[in-house]
Amino acid sequence: MTPTPIILDCDPGHDDAMAMILAAYNPAINLLGITTVSGNGIINKVTENALRVCALAKINVPVAQGAGASLLGAVEAASDIHGETALDGAPLPAATFALQPGHGVDLIAKLVREHPEKVTLVATGPLTNIALFLKMYPELQDRIEAIVFMGGSAGRGNRTPYAEFNIWMDPEACDVVLKSGLPLTMIGLDVTHQALITKEIFARLEGLNTEIAKTLSGLMRFFAQTYNDVFEMPDPPLHDPIAVAVLIDSTVTKNRFVNVEVELSGLHTRGATVVDIYSRTGGKANVDVALELDFDKFWTMMLDAVEAAGR
Ligand code: RIB
Ligand code: CA
Repeated sequence: MTPTPIILDCDPGHDDAMAMILAAYNPAINLLGITTVSGNGIINKVTENALRVCALAKINVPVAQGAGASLLGAVEAASDIHGETALDGAPLPAATFALQPGHGVDLIAKLVREHPEKVTLVATGPLTNIALFLKMYPELQDRIEAIVFMGGSAGRGNRTPYAEFNIWMDPEACDVVLKSGLPLTMIGLDVTHQALITKEIFARLEGLNTEIAKTLSGLMRFFAQTYNDVFEMPDPPLHDPIAVAVLIDSTVTKNRFVNVEVELSGLHTRGATVVDIYSRTGGKANVDVALELDFDKFWTMMLDAVEAAGR
């Protein structure tokens, strides 16, 4: 089967780092490039982190820096979860190659224009770059196979009581994506909170007994501590790699195709994804929303990728 060509837009970020490794080392994925967006940290931090994770995992693809603020100019760093560097918990090697010149959105356009097949955009941070690409390069929209994004929730939020962080950071960008007419898959908190790094998963990760597994364990243990401190979750959810996993094996999640809108003006609910699970609004279905995770299938592909990266 031909590997799925993707571009990963991310804000590394502990779980973004794992999504990078899964995308780079699973044979069902052809990772064309990586772009960064501010979210878990300010843009220069998440971009430096992307380059350092590439060095750690020997990922050799073009990397370009994207938007440093939301479409409306908002900047926020989730340092309470990801730490001051936005990827605290273990020392990372220095970057081994330079950024591509130009903006991340222009790298997306270049890769899409040059690739012979349609390309899937995978977003694991705020959707700012994806929205900018759709607005700045409408002529390339027919070269996009689909957009898979980690964000939102059919239930409660995590940055506010009703808004998940990535969407809360840039609700207008999410609105652009939701109205794009492209095939959309939403990997929200409903499913990501099933991808828990349990004690058993930590044991399997550390049991790989490689330098990269040791570093990733250090990063994940930091992530586990902050998640427990903030959300009283003893086992942290590894959100982002699921957005890659669904392209490797569509049976890794059970989805429902429903109408999804985003709240742009609610005093207490701005950034909430309004997921019409039971089709009560009559709104046209526009998003495949992942609701259930095959835990074993997901962790097998995730840990296999870490093992491959350590060889
Ligand atoms: O809400 C979880 C999402 O926000 C993840 O993508 C995490 O990396 C942060 O970006
Ligand atoms: Ca992220």
